[in-house]
Amino acid sequence: RIIYTSGASGKTPLVPVTPQLLEEKAARRMTKEATGYIIGGAGLGKTMQNNRSAFDQYQIVPRMLKDVSKRDTSITLFGQKFPSPLLTAPVGVLEMVHKRADLAVAEATSSLGVPMIFSNQASYPMEACASLMGNNPRWFQLYWSKSNELVLSFLKRAEASGCSAIVVTLDTSVLGWRTQDLDLAFLPFLQGKGIAQYTSDPVFQQLMDEPIDHQAPEFKPKVTLSLIKNALRMKKNYPGGLWKNFSSDRPIKAVKRFVNIYSRDSLTWENLQFLRKHTQLPLLLKGILHPDDAQKAIDYGMDGIVVSNHGGRQVDGAIGSFAALPDIVQKVKDQIPVLLDSGVRSGADMLKALAIGAKAVCVGRPYVYGLALAGAAGVQEVLANLMADFELNMALAGCKSVGELGRELLKKPQAFSC
Ligand code: FNR
Repeated sequence: RIIYTSGASGKTPLVPVTPQLLEEKAARRMTKEATGYIIGGAGLGKTMQNNRSAFDQYQIVPRMLKDVSKRDTSITLFGQKFPSPLLTAPVGVLEMVHKRADLAVAEATSSLGVPMIFSNQASYPMEACASLMGNNPRWFQLYWSKSNELVLSFLKRAEASGCSAIVVTLDTSVLGWRTQDLDLAFLPFLQGKGIAQYTSDPVFQQLMDEPIDHQAPEFKPKVTLSLIKNALRMKKNYPGGLWKNFSSDRPIKAVKRFVNIYSRDSLTWENLQFLRKHTQLPLLLKGILHPDDAQKAIDYGMDGIVVSNHGGRQVDGAIGSFAALPDIVQKVKDQIPVLLDSGVRSGADMLKALAIGAKAVCVGRPYVYGLALAGAAGVQEVLANLMADFELNMALAGCKSVGELGRELLKKPQAFSC
């Protein structure tokens, strides 16, 4: 209504409402490195395509004359009430698109009551974001480092920053084959302030300071020419942050050290006990695509899962996230909440995910485009549009509240036979 009313007085929206236009306009505003990093995906981009086409597997069958004059889009997750089944997905290195990066997202989400998931690779420390958020809900996303001490430090900081859940991202044990970044020889998180979530951490600083044994097996991963070129460029452009303890002319040492600390590809299900032991906060696993893994999450005492393929940035040709949802929901049977991300672009997408049985969705790229175009106000507008779009679709489908959304609202399109 606000958009139409403003339109009547000649004002157009701050950021495009149409998802495709939003992406195109943001792409024109961003550097080529940011465009490649944000918009791009893994390999041939098949997973990103699958994420979108998966939503076409079901169509909505609206019901009429249901009195939808009083509508309630709120949900409750882990004892907290949220205004809409919408969270912002954790997105790292936002400094690439806007100077105020995560701070702007913190303000925008707080103005709407939308929960924000802090990225482990955020451009600003979680403490700085939390200080702007009042009581607004926030969760922390963890990349499981090779260092248990660093993991514990992140958990402690998250608890002290008022985070009410921990999201452990499992699908990034190694970085995907990101063709657009590779073409530019660009590794975004090596930017100075780009990973302040790490560089502001006392344990991380200690780890970076430890002497490196270049012969040690953990430093075996080949450091490519493009990595070195990138490191040199970053050291020049961003003299602070990751590089500040490396006054020598050997930024490659920082690269090796960081790559070695950042993730642990030897993790197995048993490792989850460590997290369970060290935090009382609800633990969610992000990156689940197989029903048996969803079952394992329950068996290993996890409190929730996020069905996700990282926005198509990891495995190329992976199952669309929404296509994986029905079997997972069936397996989980309401034992723990199931969330979904990857490819959500509209209120109708949200409605379909909830009708199948997701408790909420996260969005990634769309709010980053809002950030690139108009800072905090742009993020706010993108999120508010999604919330409004969802509310309208819910009402038009004949439902007053999220609890009324069920599978009976959806139908698989019939193949044409004549
Ligand atoms: C991500 N994502 C991500 N996930 C995570 O757990 N930690 C992170 O730091 C990041 N960083 C990140 C950067 C960028 C540029 C993108 C686009 C994505 C994945 C993110 O949380 C989410 O899974 C996807 O973005 C969801 O897909 P859509 O909504 O972007 O299609």
